[in-house]
Amino acid sequence: MSRVLSSKVSTTPFEGQKPGTSGLRKKVTEFQKPHYTENFVQSTLSALGDKIDGCTLVVGGDGRFFTKEAVAIIIKMAAANGVKRLIVGQHGVLSTPAVSCLIRKHQTMGGIILTASHNPGGPDGDFGIKFNCANGVLSEVDGRLFIVDVVDSVDDYVHLMRQIFDFDAIRQLLTGSDGNEPLRIRVDCLNGVTGPYARRVFCEELGAPADAVVHSQPLADFGGLHPDPNLTYAKPLVEAVKQGGQGFGAAFDGDGDRNMIIGEGAFFVNPSDSLAVLANNLDCIPYFRRLGVRGLARSMPTGCALDRVAAAKKLECFEVPTGWKFFGNLMDAGRLSLCGEESFGTGSDHVREKDGIWAALAWLSVIAQRQQSVQQILEAHWDQYGRNFFTRYDYENCESAPCEKMMSELNQLVADPSTVGKTFSSGGKSYTVSKADNFCYTDPVDNSVTKNQGIRLIFSDGSRVVFRLSGTGSSGATVRMYVESYEKDDTRMDAQAALAPLVDIAITVSKLKEYTGRSEPTVIT
Ligand code: G6P
Ligand code: ZN
Repeated sequence: MSRVLSSKVSTTPFEGQKPGTSGLRKKVTEFQKPHYTENFVQSTLSALGDKIDGCTLVVGGDGRFFTKEAVAIIIKMAAANGVKRLIVGQHGVLSTPAVSCLIRKHQTMGGIILTASHNPGGPDGDFGIKFNCANGVLSEVDGRLFIVDVVDSVDDYVHLMRQIFDFDAIRQLLTGSDGNEPLRIRVDCLNGVTGPYARRVFCEELGAPADAVVHSQPLADFGGLHPDPNLTYAKPLVEAVKQGGQGFGAAFDGDGDRNMIIGEGAFFVNPSDSLAVLANNLDCIPYFRRLGVRGLARSMPTGCALDRVAAAKKLECFEVPTGWKFFGNLMDAGRLSLCGEESFGTGSDHVREKDGIWAALAWLSVIAQRQQSVQQILEAHWDQYGRNFFTRYDYENCESAPCEKMMSELNQLVADPSTVGKTFSSGGKSYTVSKADNFCYTDPVDNSVTKNQGIRLIFSDGSRVVFRLSGTGSSGATVRMYVESYEKDDTRMDAQAALAPLVDIAITVSKLKEYTGRSEPTVIT
């Protein structure tokens, strides 16, 4: 506890500090420029206006390179700006969902998260700063004492998980204490922030052996790994589960909000399917048994498997733009319990962020209750609802101008009334356009309108093609192409094979190869 003495430092604005969907995300070297970080922190605090005086904020990040320096800057500047109390994770480390958990528990004004999510770290990697608002209450102002509370990074989060899930049931599953074969799992933290959380939850609380959690030491450069849980960057998990025979595998991104789930033999659970399966099985989780299920939601590009579950269960189902904040509004209004995105994000209204470890625990709850393998659960789901085959092609770090041109040409295509009714054919399959637009969202809670959220070609059988530019890349333009094809009966095909004709159509219609100059995508999921 100390009294605050502040001094004034003059500075000039920097180009490009406007935060995107995930705050400000740039190269570490940018943040290291004199006054660069201070300027952004000051702007963030100034944006709070009068509310800053005497308030409490949570501060923490995924431990990537430059975290400690940024925390030190934030502490000084928060004190100088009249913040009364900071709740800081030990060594500045907190996962993104854990920050959200602390904001809600302590009802703070908000929190500052230091992360560039799934982007590589280290001196040449990326860093980021994001402010999380909360509808918290103001702390009382009593004098000008400034308090920094250093809290255990994991305790409150684990406490919350214990309230949501039936830990005894999952422990039985993982240890075989019910007389069944124990389910062997492998959890890969990719040297991101989730290591300490995963060790505590899966090993200490749930009885998995110590070697079930790997890459569990958070490292400033993620040990050179790219902490993005997908089939490209989490390949070591895929290979290990193929060889090791585990029945369940999970990986998380740098700041712990994304997840990838695989089953025995590295059977891949597409994130859009993962969301639909969880929605169909929420009664396996005590939290939802207690509170009921209020509504479901997915981001627009996410596959539509969820909509079928919502219809069957007569639940309200929302389609929102990419970006987790749109879910938050619906949750605050009490209209949303479970949501997710194709970009490996799954979560519920227990916090206001997506939550990787929560998703793994949700899956283990379903497995424990149904006593089925991951693959059996998926196949039963497809038998019941049919299958929305889904794939995403990413063209990363392309030149911006031609990509913008491609999008504007696609805009013209969907605006042209003659597009509806057109039939495209490839590989013996034909698709007729029944709707074409540029997705626009009107928030049902505050009626705010968000335009220009992605080009959609929707076909008469429910299949879809979507194009958008990523809002999270740190340099150049990243084009995302999402392709989804619905099959009622033929649900066991290989996904890429099932989608090949529509992928071909999408690439041709968009002239993607010409505009990006790429013959192949950087990543396919
Ligand atoms: C972040 C956001 C997500 C979003 C993802 C991809 O993780 O929190 O809501 O889905 O980025 O966004 P992008 O614009 O790169 O597709
Ligand atoms: Zn993340």
